Amino acid sequence: MEVKPKLNLEKSLALFEEAKKISPGGVMGIRRPYNFIEGEYPIYIDYGYGSHIVDVDGNDYIDMLCAYGPIILGYREPEINDAVIEQMEKGFCFSLVQPVQNELIKRLIKLIPSAEMAILVKTGSDATGVAVRLARGFSGKDKILRCGYHGWHDWCVEVRGGVPKTSCELTLEFPYGNLEALEKLLKENKGEVAAIIVTPVGHPLAKPVSAPPAGYLEGVRSLADQYEAVLIFDEIRSGFRVSMGGAQERYGVTPDLSTFGKALANGYPLSACVGKAEIMKEAEEHVFISSTFFPNSLEMVAAMKCLDIMERENVIDAIWKSGQNFLDELNNMVHNSGVPATVSGIPPMPFLTFDKADDSYKKRRVRFFTETIRRGLFIQPYHHWYITYRHSAEDLEKALKVISEALEIVAKEYPA
Ligand SMILES: Cc1ncc(COP(=O)(O)O)c(C=O)c1O
Repeated sequence: MEVKPKLNLEKSLALFEEAKKISPGGVMGIRRPYNFIEGEYPIYIDYGYGSHIVDVDGNDYIDMLCAYGPIILGYREPEINDAVIEQMEKGFCFSLVQPVQNELIKRLIKLIPSAEMAILVKTGSDATGVAVRLARGFSGKDKILRCGYHGWHDWCVEVRGGVPKTSCELTLEFPYGNLEALEKLLKENKGEVAAIIVTPVGHPLAKPVSAPPAGYLEGVRSLADQYEAVLIFDEIRSGFRVSMGGAQERYGVTPDLSTFGKALANGYPLSACVGKAEIMKEAEEHVFISSTFFPNSLEMVAAMKCLDIMERENVIDAIWKSGQNFLDELNNMVHNSGVPATVSGIPPMPFLTFDKADDSYKKRRVRFFTETIRRGLFIQPYHHWYITYRHSAEDLEKALKVISEALEIVAKEYPA
């Protein structure tokens, strides 16, 4: 199999050099080049269409990172664009609220098992922040037990520069899938835990999972009840992807509060904290939640239209079906290649990690993701991938062909 030449990334790299002089690090957080393969991946995107993105140098990729999750249908959905433009012409940022807010909240209450009331905010971090504040307000307790990524705010951020020590001390981490570890923490902090927040399908990097382990979510639910902690499902990633009612609907365990974002509006910044009325009502008086932009309506209109399309076209089923085929093929390929690697994730969110079988695992990873990007497949080495509605059978076939070629090169260059 032929090793492909490096892509032309001249404009991306020039823009990045400029950006580093005007903004710290050039770009923020997970968009920095070291989160991909430095020098091989583009840094600036020009436009997207359907399941593709095109970078500023004109390279066209099948995109399976999907903006880190918000793209559930595809880029530039005409129906969503039309609805948003119509709202734009009326105005969307006012001192007061527009009626679409009620419409969307009623819809979320209908769709999500745990939703008796909802609060609409903008980012995933906003929504998890709201959930944690409500849980603290409701319980009168301060500590939070968490597992997985919940955003960039003080209460949960992993890189602790700039975060008060007292804030870090109130959040304790437990490993996904291990009820004993969670119970131990609850015992050690008896009477102090306001909430347990968990990403219901786990995090493939922390522990490869194909579904929640049998009985795990039920176990977390009953520990939360036993220790009188509010149970929060962070469904920012799983919401409107695992099912229309979230992982809680698919796996049949209902939390007290839950958070949704990403796929809710196909890329528009919108998120929600939903849950039991008795907890949500804390926000009527004691718990302060407000922001200038929370009532902006463009993203609510986008969400209404996105949900219309998802319901009308049974998008979730379609994604699970193509995702299952993709995962099965990926599994076969990895198995046949002899490359020490593990396929994980669930059909809408597949992933491949390189096993720490020997000293070459990092080299295998670099080689693999170098060859996949050079062949026009945009996937992330440290984050699971996504399948959207607009990934056609041809797109996924091409993606698998690219993966198979990259695996062949890895197997040859770094035999296990
Ligand atoms: C599970 C989960 N919770 C919360 C967040 C934070 O969302 P945002 O980046 O929109 O603030 C993320 C983002 O990746 C996430 O995956």
